Amino acid sequence: MPKQGPIGFFDSGYGGITVLRAVRLLLPEYNYLYLGDNARAPYGTRSFDVVYDYTWQGVRTLFEQGCQLVILACNTASAKALRSIQQKELLDYPGRRVLGVVRPSAENIGKLSKTNEIVVLATEGTVKSASYPMEFAKFSPSTKVHQHACPMWVPLVESGEYRTPEGQLMIQKNIHEVRRLYPNADVYLLGCTHYPVLEPFLQAVIEDQIHVVSQGEVVATSLERYLKRHSWLVRKLQTGRSVQYMTTENAVIFERRVFELFGQRCRAEQIKISDNGID
Ligand code: DGL
Repeated sequence: MPKQGPIGFFDSGYGGITVLRAVRLLLPEYNYLYLGDNARAPYGTRSFDVVYDYTWQGVRTLFEQGCQLVILACNTASAKALRSIQQKELLDYPGRRVLGVVRPSAENIGKLSKTNEIVVLATEGTVKSASYPMEFAKFSPSTKVHQHACPMWVPLVESGEYRTPEGQLMIQKNIHEVRRLYPNADVYLLGCTHYPVLEPFLQAVIEDQIHVVSQGEVVATSLERYLKRHSWLVRKLQTGRSVQYMTTENAVIFERRVFELFGQRCRAEQIKISDNGID
């Protein structure tokens, strides 16, 4: 029997939980281990090198915990670090796999647009990487892809300030700007895993004819298909329906915030990660 482990999920903070929830709904049988690097969030305004180092430290930490498969449930990390991790780092970890969230979204979301014009709302880092336009060009070349950075949205979610009048005004302003700049776009892809937390507010300010799309479901469906094609990897995944949380922030703050954001009670463990994995 090969060594087994939970499916690891990594994000800069709470956003990846929006993807984890959708994956658990579709694939409830597995064990999951979530790591949020809350102490160092947001990643979206950090340089390529820093995002790469932090992401690889997070993935290695999950490997050390026995994860054989890790999902980068973060667009910024997927855009800036995934390819190099897959092509370079995994050479030292044969049999382990790391997957991201950008490609599944680019594969599936173009077809939702009737006008063939979409806007990707994302962090500055994701926008600058141009990963979305590149991936859409491969999988949905007829889709015109606009990108719009919303650098305040991750801090608003991490701090809980998205609920305040000031926070909501900022979100509203961003949306009006997007509408003005790209009047023909009929799909807004939430290309940052934190943004689905804002969906109720976004729906209230965005006209009904615009489709606001979160990534959770497409990532879950694409993971299900991937696992069907890779039965050798499925044999390395622990089943048992458990989910554990690790954070680089204070665990009590993490537990409280998860409850505020998702109405979900959890137990978290605070860890320190560094160049050498867990300290
Ligand atoms: N959830 C991350 C993403 O999908 C947020 C990155 C950040 O910390 O800025 O991009």
